[in-house]
Formats: sequence, C-alpha cells, structure tokens
Amino acid sequence: AATLDDLAQRTGRYFGSAVDNPELDDTAYADLLGSEFGATTPGNGMKWYATEPRRGVFDFTAGDEIVAYAKAHHLKVRGHTLLWHSQLPSWLTDGTWTADELRSILKNHITTEVKHYKGKVFAWDVANEIMNEDGTYRENIFYKTLGPGYIADALRWAHAADPKVKLYLNDYNVEGLGAKSDAYYALIKQLKADRVPIDGFGMQAHLALQYGFPSDMRGNIQRFADLGLDVAITELDVRMILPADTAKLTQQADWYAQVTDACLAVRRCVGITLWGYSDRHSWIPSVFPGQGAALPWDENLQRKPAYDAIAGAL
Ligand code: XIL
Repeated sequence: AATLDDLAQRTGRYFGSAVDNPELDDTAYADLLGSEFGATTPGNGMKWYATEPRRGVFDFTAGDEIVAYAKAHHLKVRGHTLLWHSQLPSWLTDGTWTADELRSILKNHITTEVKHYKGKVFAWDVANEIMNEDGTYRENIFYKTLGPGYIADALRWAHAADPKVKLYLNDYNVEGLGAKSDAYYALIKQLKADRVPIDGFGMQAHLALQYGFPSDMRGNIQRFADLGLDVAITELDVRMILPADTAKLTQQADWYAQVTDACLAVRRCVGITLWGYSDRHSWIPSVFPGQGAALPWDENLQRKPAYDAIAGAL
C-alpha cells in the first residue's frame, strides 16, 4: 500500500516525521518511521545544547545518529536548529558577552555545524522562534546583545558554510494571517530586498483544537510563496484537551486534512513534517499538561482517523 510519503511524492512533495534520539531504540517505532516517511528532523539532536556543550567543543553524536538512520532508510533530513532562545547550553546563557564576543560565538557555532552537516541535510532552520506574538522581535540573548541584524548575519554565515542548503526561518502561530506572520512577511521581504540569502519559511503548525484553525492558512502560505520562498509545514501536531473522544478525533482528522489541502494548494509548499507521528512519543503531554492525543497514530502505533484524512487529502 502507498505510504504517506509515496502519496506526497506523487505531488512533488515529501511527508516526514521528527524523531528524538531515544526513540530510535523503540524498534517498532523506528521501523514504521523508516517505511512510512520520506523525511525526518531531529527533535533535539542538532540543537545548541547538544552540539556545542562547551564553548568551542562540538559534539555531533546525536545528530549524526539520526543522519545515519535517515540514510539507511532513505529519508531526507531537515536540520533543526542553528539559533533559538531555548535549549541553549548554560555556558552560553550564564556568560556575559560583549557584542563582539557573542557575534564570534554565533558565527563559529553556525559555521561549524553547517559545515559538519554539509550534503547531509537539505534545509536548515537557521533561526527558530525569533518573533513575539505581537510581531515584535523576541528579546533573546542574540537580540539583546546584537540587535536585529543578527538574523541577516546568521543567514549569511550559514550560506557561506554551505551555499547549497536551503535556509529557513521557522516559528509557531504563523500558519494563519495575523500580527506574527505579518512580521515575518515584512522581515523576509526586507531580507530579500537586501539580498540576504533566505530560501524558505517554516510553519511549525503546533495546532490545538481549543484555539481554532488558523485563519486563511492557504492564503498565508501563498503570500510567502509569492515572495519567492519555499514554505514547509515543519512540526505539525494537533493537540486536544484530554480525554480524546470521537468528536475530537473527527475534528482533528479534519484539521490534518485542511493543513494538507492548504499545502497542496500552493506549488511552493514543499512538504509536511509531523513532530513525531504517534501519541506514544510526543512532546505535548509534558509541555501542555492535560493535553495530548495530537498525532495521526495512537500509543499502540495504530492509525487514527487523522491518518485516513491525510492520505485522502494527499
Ligand atoms: C521540543 C522537543 O520535541 C522536546 O523533546 C524538547 O523537550 C523541547 O523541544 N518548537 C520547536 C521544537 O521548534 O524544537 C520543540 O521541540 C517544540 C516546539
């Protein structure tokens, strides 16, 4: 039978799932990941805390493990992420840095990691979650010390380290029209005008039934595509307040179909990645207590209504 990735490939796209390193030891889970999907993203393995645990000392063990698994199963890999306010090593967050010091730390981190994964990842989330909900810049350590120019610098350094890899900005709550997606639209338009290398916009799509479906997702994807960008759905899940019931699972299935439809309606929407594919391994219950059941496969790796909805939409 055709897998989700087979169906996506027929439309010229990929269908992927993130994976966190410990999950590779769950053989049934890892086998299904390798057979059903065509792309993966390390859930944590390429983040700064993992890759540069001490200043200037790099450890690519976790990311390499996922790249090796992906290669063995013919999955493409999205690199995630070079720069983020979260999951930074304590040496970085606890330090007090001058602008020159932090700029050189950031440049070295990006250059070293991108060179290491050159030819092994097809895209990088260069900067993750750099905007607030109201469309102002998030005051992360880089913004506070370097000002907003750190974003263009990061993109330029990544491009210099691997001129072929696709460079993305990535965030949540940007799937629909609104202040936050407007801010990205304006920023990317300016970056393009300034000839800063940027190839794509990643919409995480951590959706929650209780908050409603993003407004005009298709139109929003289209306007970024019209800037000359690839768009990717990078971390899709659709959580609900537990317990799950038939009505919620039916609505969830409809939302998965709507996201798939929105991507397929825009030629430059290149693929969809789930943030893990089953409720057996999901970040949701630990981060959003009382919520879960967010993925198209259940705890026993059985398909939920969402699976058929996605397959039907592809
Ligand atoms: C999450 C991981 O899935 C968890 O294992 C970790 O504890 C926290 O980070 N947005 C992102 C991802 O860009 O990196 C986050 O991943 C989920 C939200």
